Amino acid sequence: MAAGKGMRIVVTGGAGFVGSHAAELFASSGWDVTVLDNLSRRAIPGFGVNTRLYNWNHLSKVKHVRLVRGSVLNRQLLARLVRDADAVVHTAGQVAVTTSLEQPEHDFNTNMRGTFNVLEACRKAGRGPSLVFCSTNKVYGENVNTIPVRLDTFRYEFDDSRYARGIPEDFEVDRCKHSPYGASKLSADLYVQEYGLTYGLRTGCFRMSCIYGDRQFGNEDQGWVAHFVISAMLGRPVTIYGDGKQVRDLLFVDDVAKAYKAFIDSKVKSDVFNVGGGQGNTISLLELLNLLDKRHGLRMPVGYGPWRNSDQKVYISDISKAGKVLGWKPEVDAATGISRLLEWARGAMSGARNSRK
Ligand SMILES: NC(=O)c1ccc[n+]([C@@H]2O[C@H](COP(=O)([O-])OP(=O)(O)OC[C@H]3O[C@@H](n4cnc5c(N)ncnc54)[C@H](O)[C@@H]3O)[C@@H](O)[C@H]2O)c1
Repeated sequence: MAAGKGMRIVVTGGAGFVGSHAAELFASSGWDVTVLDNLSRRAIPGFGVNTRLYNWNHLSKVKHVRLVRGSVLNRQLLARLVRDADAVVHTAGQVAVTTSLEQPEHDFNTNMRGTFNVLEACRKAGRGPSLVFCSTNKVYGENVNTIPVRLDTFRYEFDDSRYARGIPEDFEVDRCKHSPYGASKLSADLYVQEYGLTYGLRTGCFRMSCIYGDRQFGNEDQGWVAHFVISAMLGRPVTIYGDGKQVRDLLFVDDVAKAYKAFIDSKVKSDVFNVGGGQGNTISLLELLNLLDKRHGLRMPVGYGPWRNSDQKVYISDISKAGKVLGWKPEVDAATGISRLLEWARGAMSGARNSRK
């Protein structure tokens, strides 16, 4: 698909973290961007700004972006917005494992029904839009924990050479626990693939691990890197569930937005991609605390709690397929990305303080 001027894209959940960066990337490439969001993300008290509206307000100043407040559960609205679109990036969702355990029906409705509505809107739309779906590493559920791990001082490592590059897309997804969040995302992921195969929609399922970066309002339930950074800056305690040696591969948010664009701009029909920082950008919770302390002088009180439901001890994405098929690779390394996240949080908090003076 030719990229650029005059092309139209709808970004659901576009006032969220990933969606707002995707919206900005496409707008800066000359696309007309429509953001659909119901502004339901929980606010972070004490940050100094209205965190729920922060990305919405940010995008209101970006050229080529139109903001629509509404839900992906509103089929008529979706149909109207998607009718003339060339592409859709579907980021809207219930995003937390914890919430999915407490409110499984809400999780199901938002993630499964919401994605189904997006698929139907795309199927019926005039231009046959390309669809990017934000899937997750949680589709592999606790199967990941069947890989033997060894314990180093501050982290777990896979102890099986078959996974030296990380988890590939054909890793088993079923016959294990996932959490309701993992299950609703996996169902939606399969539906997205199905609409590619059965109805010929161009669909990209991006199974993302840990995305982090500026304008991320992480809390205890989701977005742990930003949660640690923001808590450290506010001097608030954090709780580590488990021993803190669990490892994730970090992907800076601009890089994930570029992966979506690489798919939309490509000739690839439909596919599934694991995207994360890969082996080159892994970190454990304890290592992040250490980095914040040693490199940035930030410390906070740390408590410990029991392991969380369906938590994976190590998750590292094998990103070689996205590299081969889309010519994509992460550009921002973890240390640089964390510094950028920190700089942004510092600026946003001090901006808020100054505006109150
Ligand atoms: N951030 C990550 O590390 C990560 C990892 C894997 C998968 N994902 C997936 O990526 C997507 C984006 O995540 P994020 O980190 O940007 O989360 P986010 O909470 O910042 O963004 C999600 C946005 O969706 C909106 N939303 C929720 N329900 C909606 C509805 N019914 N209609 C319209 N909008 C609605 C929210 O208001 C929010 O702005 C989610 O689908 C999430 O499951 C994120």
